[in-house]
Amino acid sequence: AQKAGVNTLVFNNELSPSQSRNISDLTHCNVVDRTELILAIFARHARTNQAKLQVELAQLEYNYTRLKHMWRHLSRIEGGIGFRGPGEKQLEVDRREIRKKIGVLKKKLEQIENTTIIKRQRRRRITSIALVGYTNAGKSTIFNKLTHESRFTADQLFATLDAMTRMLKSESGDQVVLTDTIGFIRDLPHRLVASFHSTLMEVIEADLILHVVDISNPFLFDQMDAVNKVLAELDADNKNTLYVFNKIDLVRKNLYAFLRKKILNKYPDSIFLSARQNTGLDGLLDKIDEFLLRSKKPVVLEVPRALQGLISFIHDNTEVIGVEAVEDQDLQRMEVRVPRHLYGDIIRQIEEYKFKEYINKKDGGNYD
Ligand code: GTP
Repeated sequence: AQKAGVNTLVFNNELSPSQSRNISDLTHCNVVDRTELILAIFARHARTNQAKLQVELAQLEYNYTRLKHMWRHLSRIEGGIGFRGPGEKQLEVDRREIRKKIGVLKKKLEQIENTTIIKRQRRRRITSIALVGYTNAGKSTIFNKLTHESRFTADQLFATLDAMTRMLKSESGDQVVLTDTIGFIRDLPHRLVASFHSTLMEVIEADLILHVVDISNPFLFDQMDAVNKVLAELDADNKNTLYVFNKIDLVRKNLYAFLRKKILNKYPDSIFLSARQNTGLDGLLDKIDEFLLRSKKPVVLEVPRALQGLISFIHDNTEVIGVEAVEDQDLQRMEVRVPRHLYGDIIRQIEEYKFKEYINKKDGGNYD
């Protein structure tokens, strides 16, 4: 380190507080361990209030456990039974302070989480898409392109969602929620996965995952594995997933041809693009459109109660989220996710019935 003239040493593993201190004393360098580094990266990238609080909480919790170790260590070497070493008092004060701060942060986060849960429930009937990927793969760049410059338009009604979530409208008029998530990193410490759990809920609940990969990175396959491992940890590994290979502008032609073939062999639905150079984004949108066509459409149906046959058909053939009776109009309001190929026919039956009713009422005549 001295030869290289560096002043910070980064360790690719966790260090105990005394290890950090000893290395720092020996080398006169700042010492940063893996968790501290990841937290620092997260802190730099946290954009929403919630993400910022989560990082702060994770940092405090990490420091708290380290102070606890240090305290134990000190009481062994300096205090002994019934005595207190000189550093202990300060440490105890520090710990109490941190504990207090942790309590405050947890409360704030709880409040945010409660509103997020309500928002998410409201959004449940809208198809949701989450961008995931190894850190630096280009998720945010793609997110920005899709929300600002693509043929999908931002849905102004919902412009108040947070910085990482946007409501879009596809060309066919379908509403989609697009969410950008924190970058994944190899061997993400479990404790951190837990800290960011509520941010990652968007991934768990997504209908479609866009797994962004930096194709120019020599370790792209390792990075994909790392991301898939975290997804498995979240139980989100068997969701509909599209692989989006970004940064094709950085790969030599021959290598690109080779990689593309290799990748398509394994994941035939993959998309290749350069978000920075705006190439290939249409291909991604086409794939999203295709997915929307194949997937279930979230709708609220108002079915006349006289159509008992249709109501049981809906129960049998769609995913029913909620049912509510509208007594004064003799309707059943049903919130469902309906396979798109059935949607047209269901709507036709409802409209036809309502039309007959209308004619019958208007003319007192017999429609049939
Ligand atoms: P994290 O927030 O760390 O997870 O990163 P991210 O996946 O959101 O990546 P981000 O969009 O911040 O992009 C990372 C870097 O890659 C930025 O410097 C981008 O400008 C750059 N980048 C993104 N897409 C492309 C691309 O298609 N080509 C090139 N050459 N650079 C790109």
